[in-house]
Amino acid sequence: MHKDCEYILLSEEKISSIVKDMAKTISEDYKDKNLLLVGLLKGSVMFMTDLMKELTVDCKIDFICASSYGSGTESSGRVNIVKDVSQPLDGKDVLIVEDIIDSGNTLNFITKYFAAKNAASVRICTLLSKPDRRVVDIPVDYVGQEVPDEFVIGYGLDYDEKYRNLPYVGVLKPSVYS
Ligand code: IMP
Ligand code: MG
Repeated sequence: MHKDCEYILLSEEKISSIVKDMAKTISEDYKDKNLLLVGLLKGSVMFMTDLMKELTVDCKIDFICASSYGSGTESSGRVNIVKDVSQPLDGKDVLIVEDIIDSGNTLNFITKYFAAKNAASVRICTLLSKPDRRVVDIPVDYVGQEVPDEFVIGYGLDYDEKYRNLPYVGVLKPSVYS
């Protein structure tokens, strides 16, 4: 375990079983659809690649990068698009792939943005969710696991751009950011 990690919240084995279950449900739900996975950079990278490998339906992929966090642990509430999707969304069944939903500000903005681009449908799939921290009540269609209000790192998730490469999800020691 990394020295800055307080404890492991989700082991590699646990993540793998969550991803497989979710991919099975998504594959059933999107059987006759025009699925486009849109990963939110950069946190969703590991989740996105593992999830798409498990899907049994055809899909296309794209990425969007939005910023709302600085280097701290609190959301600023403002969302900027740093990198947009690279294709028209008309008629596509967009499934946004996210690492973690905290306040909900980012996804509230992005879902409206995609709806305005005429997507046939827009749904959200997230590996993790912190329900206690929600400021905007957005409908989340697929949730891997609800987590307590602690700052988590690994499996794509960062603190100040670090720890994304850890293969598990762990709780960051408060001494690192306080
Ligand atoms: P929201 O807009 O407040 O829902 O923020 C969502 C974004 O904040 C996620 O995409 C993450 O990048 C980041 N975030 C929220 N909580 C955590 C955490 O515990 N660890 C790492 N990143 C987090
Ligand atoms: Mg992030």
